[in-house]
Amino acid sequence: MTEYVTLTIDGKEVKAPVGSTVLEAAKSAGIRIPTLCYLKDINEIGACRMCIVDVGARSFQAACMYPVSEGLKVITNSPKIRETRRVTLELILSAHEKKCLSCARNLKCELQKLAEELNIHDNRFEGELQHFPIDDLSPSIVRDPNKCVLCRRCVSVCKNVQTVSAIETIDRGYKTIVASPFHMPLKDTPCVNCGQCIVACPTGALREKKSTDKVWEALANKDLHVVVQTAPAVRAAIGEEFGYPIGTPVTGKMVAALKRLGFAKVFDTDTAADLTIMEEGTELVDRIKNNGKLPLITSCSPGWIKFCEHFYPDMLDNLSSCKSPQNMFGAVLKSYYAEKAGIDPSKIFVVSVMPCTAKKFEAERPELASTGYPDVDEVITTRELAEMIRESGI
Ligand code: SF4
Ligand code: SF4
Ligand code: FES
Repeated sequence: MTEYVTLTIDGKEVKAPVGSTVLEAAKSAGIRIPTLCYLKDINEIGACRMCIVDVGARSFQAACMYPVSEGLKVITNSPKIRETRRVTLELILSAHEKKCLSCARNLKCELQKLAEELNIHDNRFEGELQHFPIDDLSPSIVRDPNKCVLCRRCVSVCKNVQTVSAIETIDRGYKTIVASPFHMPLKDTPCVNCGQCIVACPTGALREKKSTDKVWEALANKDLHVVVQTAPAVRAAIGEEFGYPIGTPVTGKMVAALKRLGFAKVFDTDTAADLTIMEEGTELVDRIKNNGKLPLITSCSPGWIKFCEHFYPDMLDNLSSCKSPQNMFGAVLKSYYAEKAGIDPSKIFVVSVMPCTAKKFEAERPELASTGYPDVDEVITTRELAEMIRESGI
């Protein structure tokens, strides 16, 4: 049975489970404490000090780390606390490249929101800026350390959730940077291109590699027959970009928008998912009948395939030999569909809209071009599709 303690936060009596933090207790009581480095269950390291509160100790404490206790008295809002948070944020901003207008996260940036919330309009600590090179060699991820606030959320998600550890904080003091070992480009590390670090990042320091320019170029090329396939998650996620509640299916609107953008045909990757299941089922039956390698493990996720290649090479024979739905569909479009529609496969340009950045990496794998052409020519994420829709005024 859960045990509770009673504490006071800003004069309000709050009951909170033993072992929970002041931040969690405050949240349950509807009291907002600003945070930056904190990511529940993933990054709880007390690095940024944005969440400081007064617990009656000699110095302010980080609410995201401080445990609740019986009779604890917490103040979350006082002139001194507000000023300390402002100084902390101004110091973070003093080392931050503030090119907000051209940043991929402009208007969707936690740092920007925090500066607005704390009413920071000037900075008392304008100082020297470091200029780190941008790593854009990965097919999926762009790393811009000039926008990094060293919250380490990406490091934690990569290490503790994905168990890859492709990135770490390296060097010390003012020179501290989040990077891959020996500053190698991300593409030369075991990074599986999953994009979870992008999801965790509060700023524009990590972003997906943009493919929209190449898609616009193809759409404008009258010699090409440009078709698109959309993964099932996209129709449920894209509405969010346009203000619909999370998970609202907007299939019809999405298809209409894709046609307005100029795609000749709109396909559903679900179709190829069915093909993959049939192929994998056939392969399983074949392996069972002929003493093949078992268990058979699905090969649908390019992130998982790369993970297996790096960390479990002894299990590669357990992977299904089937292509993922994205690539199976690309191959079908450039063979079966090309023949049925009487179109030269070299003139078919296949765009995928996918929820996962690893699909960009997969599309570039040289072994996935069985028709003599890449199965898929360009991959854009749900967010990139939303940008295209907005940009064309639909
Ligand atoms: S894409 Fe995934 S594996 Fe690569 S650095 Fe980010 S979290 Fe780690
Ligand atoms: S890259 Fe983003 S998530 Fe990683 S430490 Fe920097 S700001 Fe935080
Ligand atoms: S959010 Fe608590 S220290 Fe960063």
